[in-house]
Amino acid sequence: MNTAMPFLRKIFIKTYGCQMNAHDSERLAAMLRTFGHEIVDCEDDADVYILNTCSVRERAEIKAVGKSRYLSRKKLRKNNALLGIVGCMAENLAENLFKLNPGIDFIIGPRRISELPAILAGENVGRVALLGEAHSEDAGESARDFSSAKICASVSIMQGCNMRCSYCIVPKTRGPESYRPMDSIIAECETLVQNGTKEITLLGQIVNNYGQGVLEYGSGKSPFVQLLERIDDIAGLERIRYMSPHPKGFREDLIEAHSSLSKLCPSVHLPIQSGSDRVLRAMRRPYTRARILSIVESLRAAVPNIALTTDVIVGYPGEREEDFSMTVDLLNAVKFNMAFVFKYSPRAGTLSASLPDDVGADEKDRRNKILLDMVQKCSIGHNETMIGHGVEVLVEGHAKRGENKLCGRTRGGDKVIFDGQDRLIGQLVNVKIMDSAITILRGKLIEI
Ligand code: 5AD
Ligand code: SF4
Repeated sequence: MNTAMPFLRKIFIKTYGCQMNAHDSERLAAMLRTFGHEIVDCEDDADVYILNTCSVRERAEIKAVGKSRYLSRKKLRKNNALLGIVGCMAENLAENLFKLNPGIDFIIGPRRISELPAILAGENVGRVALLGEAHSEDAGESARDFSSAKICASVSIMQGCNMRCSYCIVPKTRGPESYRPMDSIIAECETLVQNGTKEITLLGQIVNNYGQGVLEYGSGKSPFVQLLERIDDIAGLERIRYMSPHPKGFREDLIEAHSSLSKLCPSVHLPIQSGSDRVLRAMRRPYTRARILSIVESLRAAVPNIALTTDVIVGYPGEREEDFSMTVDLLNAVKFNMAFVFKYSPRAGTLSASLPDDVGADEKDRRNKILLDMVQKCSIGHNETMIGHGVEVLVEGHAKRGENKLCGRTRGGDKVIFDGQDRLIGQLVNVKIMDSAITILRGKLIEI
């Protein structure tokens, strides 16, 4: 029998990248706590530093490598401290990371994160790299700390991505798609709701691919829509969101779900990437601008005020001025509430990495700025239209600034700040919008 005391650690986790990564960090923290480790908010208090990293653009990697070098200097001043890189950059740069920063002790890819507690169990960790495969039965989705269930929680429904968009590193870092069993997702949602969660965001690289080729269609409904229907039935849950769908599989059943499911929020993040069919083809995105316009038209017919957001890449190899104009044109035609604009960043190991990155930094900057200006105007315009209206807000907590200020979101996803008492946190309230800025709305509680 092993009677040795487990080696308990104070662990600091810093997260880069998308919601999926934030969710992985949450799960990782919960898992480590169950092993008796403590998660600390301040790196100075820690004896294990973990960076959960992103590889989607070069800049994200440069930042994380820089931070790791800073932490490895800090580590030298402590006895027995450890530095680990987990997540997408760990998978992408693999053992090269040990060369970039010899102070790194372990690297763990996104599919192997649940093996971290075992690594920390020993006093002498040594150099470890856990990369590649490993999708557990439940796609790595067991640990969750329900005792601290949040008002708005994320639930991962799948891992990985089967598409091959020419620019994207994610299929390399997160591997092929694997789907969680539907019953397990439902059970997790139910337990969250029993513990106080009011809003659930379903997460996946392409959520509307959920269950494809594995689960059956029923009455013309995709497995993803069937999942939405079952979650919509959970008593006590108020809102459902999902992130992100792909335009490719955005069919009538999902559009119809937006009008028939009362808890499904009227907001969709629909990444278009470009408005030029030529560039979309080059990116291997299997849809056209006409298809985007038709999805938007159907969504708006089903839910008139649906909030639409998107992702766009500028400066893809060979993107000509006329291609860019088509993107401007599509953004103008759709009037997204918000768009995230990215300058193309070549990623080694992707299909487009072999193409000349020929748009040039200055031109990418110019195109980026034009789109950001447009987006800002759209966002300001949208926020102004909200003034004077009463909206339903799910109160998430205290606003970052201001005494007695609470913050929450509308069903469309707009952030609202208003005066109110703590007892309202976790409740749905009605707020009249009085004023707006670029990213927030300010309002007044409507007493009932
Ligand atoms: N360069 C720039 N942006 C990228 N994205 C993905 N890969 C790249 C890349 N190589 C953007 C896409 C995606 C978002 C998460 O990041 O717009 O939707
Ligand atoms: Fe998320 Fe993609 Fe970045 Fe990985 S590479 S953290 S999946 S955005």
